[in-house]
Amino acid sequence: METLKIGIVGAGFVANFHCKAITQVRNMEVAGVTALQGAEALSAFVKENGLGTGTVYPDVGAMAPHVDAIAIYVPNFARIETMEQIVEAVKQGAQLKGVICEKPLGRNVMEARRLVELADEANLRTAYFENQIFMKPIQAQLAQLAPQQATMGPLVLTRSAEEHAGPHEPWFWDPTRQGGGVLCDMGCHSIAVGWYALTPLGKPPMFLEPVSISADCALLKWGLPKWRQKLLDERGVDYTKTPAEDFTTGMVTYRNPETGQLVKAQFTDSWMFEKQGLRLFMDGMGPGYAFEVNTLASSLQIFIGDEAAEATADAETALEKSTASRGLLAVQHNEADLYGYTDENEDAARAFLAGRDAMLSWRYGLEITKLVMAGYMAAERKQTIDLTDPAIQTELETFVPLIQQGKGAEMLYGTPEPVH
Ligand SMILES: NC(=O)c1ccc[n+]([C@@H]2O[C@H](COP(=O)([O-])OP(=O)(O)OC[C@H]3O[C@@H](n4cnc5c(N)ncnc54)[C@H](O)[C@@H]3O)[C@@H](O)[C@H]2O)c1
Repeated sequence: METLKIGIVGAGFVANFHCKAITQVRNMEVAGVTALQGAEALSAFVKENGLGTGTVYPDVGAMAPHVDAIAIYVPNFARIETMEQIVEAVKQGAQLKGVICEKPLGRNVMEARRLVELADEANLRTAYFENQIFMKPIQAQLAQLAPQQATMGPLVLTRSAEEHAGPHEPWFWDPTRQGGGVLCDMGCHSIAVGWYALTPLGKPPMFLEPVSISADCALLKWGLPKWRQKLLDERGVDYTKTPAEDFTTGMVTYRNPETGQLVKAQFTDSWMFEKQGLRLFMDGMGPGYAFEVNTLASSLQIFIGDEAAEATADAETALEKSTASRGLLAVQHNEADLYGYTDENEDAARAFLAGRDAMLSWRYGLEITKLVMAGYMAAERKQTIDLTDPAIQTELETFVPLIQQGKGAEMLYGTPEPVH
């Protein structure tokens, strides 16, 4: 089987998750790794698991001539500089077929559009990595319910949620570096999977036209004095001055351009979820049929009593963002596959080897960024945003949310500084 040799930029949490996924992917090799930190450890994993040479390179320019495609797994604030290095490497003669980027494509529409332009400039095929669309439960419900969709009509309502107790690295908590709070970080997932699940079978991912969006952003836990202090001590961010939302919910309305039918996707995302660990929840209602996915419902449960808990090494081996190491615990034994990382890598490799964009291109990622920005606009203005209004579309091109600017205190506390 022909394989795509990828070079990975960034060797943190998600790069490691992808390499776990690639142990289950047959058409991809990891030929290079470059990162400010963590490249050697990731390279060792790649070699131990026979995923490719996993050669560590000092920078993108040195790696590019030895790989077929580059995967951008650096933090959100380093996207554009990384992509500029890739474009420069192509100009210097690197024969790249494509480029992969993790979510979100940009912190705002200007950044996301710049990435699309850079990929065009270097004539590279693109893959926007939105893993939840590739989740086997999402794909399986579509296949299973295809006859119902054909006879009864497509889904009319989806509800999607991604929730956990908060991200692992300090930069995620800093709205100026990450792009916002949980709406930017995880709202992009829930908006994307909701849109996708509503899309009639056989239609492309951007078939349904976004009509309007309403949203609310709140700081429910991490703005309280005790938790604010914890963030300052452990993450170095001051939520008294530059807070980000730890909860968001909203509704996007879409129109079917062929039938005129309106359908709705609700999203809910939080960094203040006080349960076992990461939970992805999706459900969908069609006329007379439905589906539901809950990743905390595992076929494997374990029990660890108080005394035995002393021996627990790492709770996160059971479940991403796990918050407990004793009692009755859910274990997901193949999270890389469950969350869709396996299938999105396979899709990107197949597409680039065939000389085309992946199922989700960067142009699609740009539309998701735009919906996320429109969500912030709706929350700031306390208005439903009309996405069919050309004036709004023009405004979204340069819109930078107050929270992303580090000016979210008044919006989230209702006063310039918290009163408690
Ligand atoms: N699909 C998902 O569910 C999911 C999950 C986690 C993260 N992500 C996304 O993946 C990206 C990376 O997140 P992460 O959790 O792995 O972050 P991380 O902080 O754990 O790792 C970032 C890595 O990039 C390196 N790095 C930072 N700046 C760099 C630069 N300028 N050049 C080269 N390397 C650089 C760091 O040294 C580190 O190796 C983010 O955009 C995030 O939104 C997606």
